[in-house]
Amino acid sequence: MLEKITIKSFLKKKERKEKITMLTAYDYPTAKIISLTELDGILVGDSLAMVVLGLENTLKVGMKEMLHHLDAVVRAKPRQLIVADMPFLSYETRDAVKNAGLFAKHGADAVKLEGGEEFSDVVKKIVRAGIPVMGHIGLTPQRFLRLGGYRTIGKTESEEEQLLRDAKALEEAGVFSVVIENVYSSIAKRITESLSIPTICIGAGPYCDGQILVIHDLLGLSDFKPYFAKAYVDLKEIISKAISEYVREVKEGKFPSKEYYKEK
Ligand code: KIV
Repeated sequence: MLEKITIKSFLKKKERKEKITMLTAYDYPTAKIISLTELDGILVGDSLAMVVLGLENTLKVGMKEMLHHLDAVVRAKPRQLIVADMPFLSYETRDAVKNAGLFAKHGADAVKLEGGEEFSDVVKKIVRAGIPVMGHIGLTPQRFLRLGGYRTIGKTESEEEQLLRDAKALEEAGVFSVVIENVYSSIAKRITESLSIPTICIGAGPYCDGQILVIHDLLGLSDFKPYFAKAYVDLKEIISKAISEYVREVKEGKFPSKEYYKEK
């Protein structure tokens, strides 16, 4: 039987140079399926806003929605490490520890927050409260207004050096791992080599300790798929075919057939 993944397993994997694999999940059935796989970690990501709730951006979800979906994932009792994404304005204010604590009380093994050295004090406080924190640098979608949209980070030398400072500051503040999103691969490589904690990349190339994808992108269910997200199956096509077949069978009187109803 596959064992429960812990923070320790993440760190061990970096030591052993074994790749770490993560996906997002937001509901019970998906977490149930994931729990039977060799995946290492589940992120209940705030990408929930777009891929599940059809909202425009991640600024539009808060603690209430994130806890609701975390609860569904936790109920599936996956063996994977469960990381809850701290939504916009849940850690920038003085409620950071209280909100991280709520995620822990609801069953998250760790929380993730977006930002670099400017959030190292917040990270320290949450870690001091006993809650493991995952960092997130590079393209931080909650800051799309300041960043001027969703773009690759690290074009200029000063952006590259800032990314390195952010990663180092987060490691010093006590994060157990850091997500690097939409960053040039050479920079992700520099960061990965300079840290003793694992880097988990999305759109940042192959030189990281692990990878993460949004599950709706991997399954071919997203309306908008970023250039770096590979779809491994076209579920949209499969689901729509199944629905069309159902509609046709009902109209033709083929469903329900005998095995699907009882006669007295
Ligand atoms: O919310 C999310 O899905 C994320 C991943 C893209 C890392 O933060």
